[in-house]
Amino acid sequence: MKIAFVGKGGSGKTTLSALFIRHLAAAGRPVIAVDADINQHLGPALGLTDDQAARLPSLGAHLPEIKEYLRGSNPLIGSADEMIKTTPPGRGSRLLRIVEENPVYAACARPIALDEGSVRLLATGAFTEEDLGVACYHSKVGAVELLLNHLLDGRDEYLVTDMTAGSDSFASGLFTRFDLTFLVAEPTRKGVSVYRQYKDYARDFGVHLRVIGNKVQGPDDLDFLRREVGDDLLATFGHSDWVRRMEQGAEPPLKSLEPANRAVLEQLRSEVDASFDRRDAHRYTEQAVLFHLRNAESWASAKVGVDLANQVDHSFVLGEFTPDGEQPAPAGAHV
Ligand SMILES: Nc1ncnc2c1ncn2[C@@H]1O[C@H](COP(=O)(O)OP(=O)(O)O)[C@@H](O)[C@H]1O
Ligand SMILES: [Mg+2]
Repeated sequence: MKIAFVGKGGSGKTTLSALFIRHLAAAGRPVIAVDADINQHLGPALGLTDDQAARLPSLGAHLPEIKEYLRGSNPLIGSADEMIKTTPPGRGSRLLRIVEENPVYAACARPIALDEGSVRLLATGAFTEEDLGVACYHSKVGAVELLLNHLLDGRDEYLVTDMTAGSDSFASGLFTRFDLTFLVAEPTRKGVSVYRQYKDYARDFGVHLRVIGNKVQGPDDLDFLRREVGDDLLATFGHSDWVRRMEQGAEPPLKSLEPANRAVLEQLRSEVDASFDRRDAHRYTEQAVLFHLRNAESWASAKVGVDLANQVDHSFVLGEFTPDGEQPAPAGAHV
């Protein structure tokens, strides 16, 4: 299950994604955490020291190896250099699973032991001095899109991404790659305006978007969110002294989180689990192809010097991985 947390800076994306990750891990579920926000804070929110977080490998810096691995023996992709963030998988491509060892995880993922359970963390990497003026942050976020387009994830296994709601997610197809997108909104006009904008962009792509109100204090806040967000409002997370203690450097156990807030995490999990049956492998693959063709036409074919539209394997559908270890379905089959 692929889940994104989006929202305005400061709304609580990192806080809530880290808590959700811990909640899943505490239940023994396999989780990959992905930090795809330009402000890379997920590592520390999961308990890394600043020093450990600064030493995390970045996906952005390993793109050539990632491409080489994912390309596998796909005959439609001449070389890793011809692979862009949207290059879709086809026959011969290597696919990733949530629970496995592979060279991508070996190079980029770091295990984090939590007070209950553990996770693996992948980070896109910070926007560095050298990037200024020559690259956009979405070139780093592109690594996440590649991974998601090559991921075979099943029920009861999760990839949770902490991401911005900003233009970087819309510079490619990344925003369409999730089974569920949680938009974190404070009960303010700015909070809900980010929701409206996201919903607007996402409308034509069948993005399943639910709002989590955060730092909600009292009935007026709740009324405001209900009025502005309507049925898209899934749950509200209150102002939390537990979160504040954590922010002050304490390491409170997850068990001691306020029961009402813990119940919200469980509600998110139910919502995610319920979205499994809505998955459509064909539609998922078609959207990947659509964004690839758009990128190929608008800039990438010219940049790479070959017609990247030819990378599309039209008979391939990214199947679904079943936890009992079955192989993905043969090309063309709908699982
Ligand atoms: N429910 C909450 N109760 C108390 N403080 C919160 C809560 N949610 C977020 N915060 C605080 O608000 C600030 C911004 O949260 P953060 O998760 O970093 O936002 P974002 O990742 O969206 O930029 C942090 O200091 C965080 O501790
Ligand atoms: Mg953040």
